[in-house]
Amino acid sequence: MANICVIGGAGYVGLTTGACFADLGNTVVGLDINRERVAQLEKGILPIYEPGLEELVQRNVAAGRLRFTTEYSEALAEAEFAFITVDTPSSFDGGADLNSLRSAAEQIAQAMRKPLIIVNKSTVPVGAGDLVTTIVDQNRLDDVYFQVVSNPEFLREGSAVRDCLNPDRIILGSADRGAAERVAKLYETLNAPIMITDLRTAEMIKYASNSFLATKISFINEIAAMCEQLGADVKEVARGMGQDKRIGSAFLDAGVGWGGSCFPKDVRALEYMAATHGCHPQLLRAVMDINRDARRRLVQRVREALGGALDGKRVAVLGLSFKENTDDMRDAPSLTVIHQMQNEGAKVVAFDPVAARHAPRLLPHTEIAVSAYEAARGADALVILTAWNEFKQLDLERVKVLMATPLIVDGRNIYDASRMADLGFQYLSVGRPTASISLAEFVG
Ligand code: NAD
Ligand code: UGA
Repeated sequence: MANICVIGGAGYVGLTTGACFADLGNTVVGLDINRERVAQLEKGILPIYEPGLEELVQRNVAAGRLRFTTEYSEALAEAEFAFITVDTPSSFDGGADLNSLRSAAEQIAQAMRKPLIIVNKSTVPVGAGDLVTTIVDQNRLDDVYFQVVSNPEFLREGSAVRDCLNPDRIILGSADRGAAERVAKLYETLNAPIMITDLRTAEMIKYASNSFLATKISFINEIAAMCEQLGADVKEVARGMGQDKRIGSAFLDAGVGWGGSCFPKDVRALEYMAATHGCHPQLLRAVMDINRDARRRLVQRVREALGGALDGKRVAVLGLSFKENTDDMRDAPSLTVIHQMQNEGAKVVAFDPVAARHAPRLLPHTEIAVSAYEAARGADALVILTAWNEFKQLDLERVKVLMATPLIVDGRNIYDASRMADLGFQYLSVGRPTASISLAEFVG
């Protein structure tokens, strides 16, 4: 079993990684510069919502395998491996902001006193592993030996613990195969395929994977827009496509588009990287453009259904997080959709089972309801932006009675269209026909 330090250990990836490594029997110290988060973790309180993580953290803290600190020297005292999981947000030009990564590398270098394998798990531009090597080399004590390994993370929020313990693959990149093999040993018990490659290739695998998944979603959203015009049902189209093993059924859910802390920033960062290296990333640009359109088109449909204007209308929004089972609102579709509706004069009342606590900061002009039913009360339209299970199970007859107008615009296609019609709703979803269409219109 190994001594592991996780830098950025109070964040989504850091906390999940640390807790999972501890659960596999390693001794883990989570280091973070966010004192408030570390103080909360020391009291057993999780700074983020992630199913199953609280129990995992508490169990491993109690077993003495997991602890937290804000001091680099303390965190690195016994460490054989330092995993970097700091944030790499978009900077103003679309490139990844590497300030946290640079600072982490510097502080690791200054604090390390024994041989260390530095493993980068943050999503970083191709070449950042070499940057870390240079920074550490320039700031370390002369006789302290280190190697750098890239180990991109593929977990999803909402299923982070499960993804972390059951990965589809482990990607390791390094100039030093021996170092990559030592990191591979940490994952041995997970029985996942392990691929060892060079640093830059490993870094590119992460961006290419996220961008490909975003492309799949934008592709199906473009098809959805056509389905609406041509009278086809995108859910059925995706089901039919997905049965082809070469295509696969995952990530073909049409809707209001992709958001979150990663796809938007990573597709942008790859586009930036390509453009600044003389490439012409036209596919990535179209993928982002289609995603912006998906959000705008949803507002347009609400506007049209309400007679061409949102001014003075009361709109209920169900779902603020960028996807279900997380409280994360970073680049959530809700932010742009709600802002646009408010700019057009709508009064927005929103509900989210978990993310609502971030709303006062991120959506200060939005009224937050205590339940989906309270949000629906008196609404001229109800818009669904996150596929939380509890929205799938709403008592829709009660919702209909509460609303001023029985209009639902569903950005996540969670209801059956014919059932909604039977219940007496005007129900608009993404990529599914709303009216019966005369075949004659489309033949010839
Ligand atoms: P996060 O913002 O939740 O966590 C980052 C943590 O790093 C914060 O707690 C912050 O205080 C800490 N930090 C910043 N600078 C530091 C420093 N110099 N020293 C110590 N701690 C420092 O971010 P996240 O969502 O966990 O993402 C981290 C990285 O992992 C990003 O590159 C992201 O793209 C990537 N990633 C994220 C996910 C995800 O689902 N969130 C999945 C895969 C990969
Ligand atoms: C995504 C990737 O799936 C992870 O592999 C990766 O590690 C992570 O980014 C990252 O690098 O941070 P995540 O953003 O947590 O994970 O969530 P996803 O489940 O991928 O969903 C992303 C967005 O796409 C959400 O807004 C979701 O609603 C949307 N989506 C997803 C669709 O609109 N349709 C789909 O079929 C799937």
